[in-house]
Amino acid sequence: MDLELNETQQLVAKTARDYAERVVRPVAAALDREERFPADILKGLAELGLMGVNVPAELGGAEAGVVAYSLAMQEIARACASTAVTMAVSNMVAEVIARFGNEEQKHLHVPKITSGEYAAGAFALSEPEAGSDPGSMRTTAERVSGGWVLRGQKQWITSGAYAGVIVVWARTGGPGTKGISTFLVEGGTPGLKPGKHEDKLGLRASNTVPLTFDDCFVPEGAMLGEPNQGFRVAMMALDGGRIDIASQALGIGTAAFEEAVAYAKDRRQFGRPIGSFDAIGGMLADCKTELDAARMLTLRAAWLKENGRPFTREASMAKLYSSEAANRVCNRAVQIHGGYGYVKDFGAERHLRDVRVTTIYEGTSEIQRTVIARSVLTP
Ligand code: CAA
Repeated sequence: MDLELNETQQLVAKTARDYAERVVRPVAAALDREERFPADILKGLAELGLMGVNVPAELGGAEAGVVAYSLAMQEIARACASTAVTMAVSNMVAEVIARFGNEEQKHLHVPKITSGEYAAGAFALSEPEAGSDPGSMRTTAERVSGGWVLRGQKQWITSGAYAGVIVVWARTGGPGTKGISTFLVEGGTPGLKPGKHEDKLGLRASNTVPLTFDDCFVPEGAMLGEPNQGFRVAMMALDGGRIDIASQALGIGTAAFEEAVAYAKDRRQFGRPIGSFDAIGGMLADCKTELDAARMLTLRAAWLKENGRPFTREASMAKLYSSEAANRVCNRAVQIHGGYGYVKDFGAERHLRDVRVTTIYEGTSEIQRTVIARSVLTP
């Protein structure tokens, strides 16, 4: 793995950073406070090619690769974690359709995500009773003349109320992981009902809703991939998604760290900057070390995916370490800010709320450890 970034990667990272600094960061606290879906910001991301960074150019993507995408995600998350997760899920959906879709599906949906014509894409796997264990899902798709009828409920769907297209998993066969298929459902399809926006601890500007499928008819051509092969599609998508969330956590942690450094230099107690006390310097040293370790694991996983190598375990390792390290970093950043870390005048409080979910969604830390443990125990 080459630690030097190539020209494309540098350009994508710079493009994302410039946009994040100029457009996203100045409004991030207000978006959070007002729980405002960042529709205009997402359009801007699409114009810069950041809604399909690792998507083929013929489908409107930037075709810049997985490493470039991770770098872009880090930059956007450093400015606004809510915008970053919305961008992450849209990129993931564009990639899934580009990879598993037929020509018609690819050309119908992917350019609408990458161009910003769709406000977002959504990924509907989890259910109220099927979170860590998606193989136990209950949503069904019944074969009818000309298509399928979906019935059931999905939970925690990022951008579920705004998405132009939703990738939905539903049971078409027997129980367990083998009887599941994947469908593309367009936003606004009759019978598809987004529920109440969740009142979340963090990521308050990202849209999170349950989705009810109430006799929701989708045509024949809505099935993505082969019948009853949907679980593997979901797992492969999540492998990539875990690199995205590792990158998002890294971006949030980096913001918290940078702000803690600035505060430690500026804030004086006992007649000197608090950063000159070993207790504070030690915390900053741990933050820097852990963020660098997280960055290495994340970029390695991205590099493996980009180069067509197996990366399931490495994606889980990156997601596990980066999310847990970023939580520690954000927690220390609040501690360094003292009382000012506990109020909304500084970013530290928002970063701690935003980072908390990164050890939960896209597979909890416990699930990442399961994936890693299986890989080391199975020859
Ligand atoms: N790639 C390809 N295939 C895979 C795979 C992978 N990474 N992982 C499993 N599979 C295949 C297996 O080979 C197996 O195939 P066969 O049936 O042909 O043998 C099949 O899938 C079933 O595999 P398992 O028996 O290992 O399945 P399991 O039920 O034990 O589950 C698990 C494995 C890793 C724990 C999985 O259930 C899992 O990842 N759970 C967490 C779910 C999750 O991450 N949800 C996140 C929701 S989305 C989200 O959070 C988005 C957001 O809001 C931002």
